[in-house]
Amino acid sequence: PCAMDVEVGSVRLPSPVMTASGTAGHGAELAAYQDLSALGAVVVKSLSADPWPGNPAPRVHAAAAGMLNSVGLQGPGVAAWRADDLPALAAAGARVVASIWGRSVDDYRRAAEALAGVGDEVVAVEVNLSCPNTEAGRDLFAHDPDATAEVLAATVACGRPRWAKLSPNTPRVVEVAGAAADAGAEAVTLVNTVMGLAIDPETRTYRLGAGERGGGLSGAAIHPVAVRVVHDVHRAHPGLPIVGVGGVADAATAVELLLAGASAVQVGTATFADPRAPSRVQRDLEHWCRRRGIPAVAELTGGLR
Ligand code: DOR
Repeated sequence: PCAMDVEVGSVRLPSPVMTASGTAGHGAELAAYQDLSALGAVVVKSLSADPWPGNPAPRVHAAAAGMLNSVGLQGPGVAAWRADDLPALAAAGARVVASIWGRSVDDYRRAAEALAGVGDEVVAVEVNLSCPNTEAGRDLFAHDPDATAEVLAATVACGRPRWAKLSPNTPRVVEVAGAAADAGAEAVTLVNTVMGLAIDPETRTYRLGAGERGGGLSGAAIHPVAVRVVHDVHRAHPGLPIVGVGGVADAATAVELLLAGASAVQVGTATFADPRAPSRVQRDLEHWCRRRGIPAVAELTGGLR
């Protein structure tokens, strides 16, 4: 057998495979398809302090090699989520990672404060600094080390280890990861979606409803981008735990991110084609290790020769 437990900073998980934010809903939507308690964790869609309506439809477009989305962070807000969604996740035995976002530093502060006193089922908080589908557009918190540090300093009140979710849309991501760690992030989640745009050639119009803002590209198309960012951040900050995300669809794509330096991985876009993808990747990964006589999946982390 291969030991599947891992540590992401101070958070111990029974498996390195978790859902990616935005692909598992706000609650136990995926519980019908797999045992959520057997996954490493369930990362919920980003929540703001207040309810938020998100962007106009259409919000997703299936491109040739990946998926574009401009959901625009629709959500019920932290308080309603705690009351209406979290109990089902707790009942399913999931370890929950709450994702939070804001349009201002004060928004982040209020979202973190609204999480204070949450139950032990919430094992970490992923601070999403990198959604490309906001009015901030190209001027995201995660594109700037100082803005990133400011948000991390403002979110202590959540009372949980914080993971900073960073953007691949900046050449400064290695520097930003260091700033996040210095400001209190226990880990970084790499990467959010890659900025893209799709045009319908027949109607000559935008494919996504948010017009000139385009959308975020995910899935197979961005896997090498994620491997690159994880690799570069791990090299520069070898002691900083990394959660890898981007195009994980099977054991091989998960192992690539682990070897590049990730301690755990998230499965996102693959879930839309197969809602059981997270548990399938987990099983595949365990078999992959067993067939090679690898005694513990944790030893793959940073194992690139
Ligand atoms: O691609 C993304 N879409 N990344 C995010 O962080 C948020 C999401 C959305 O809701 O638009």
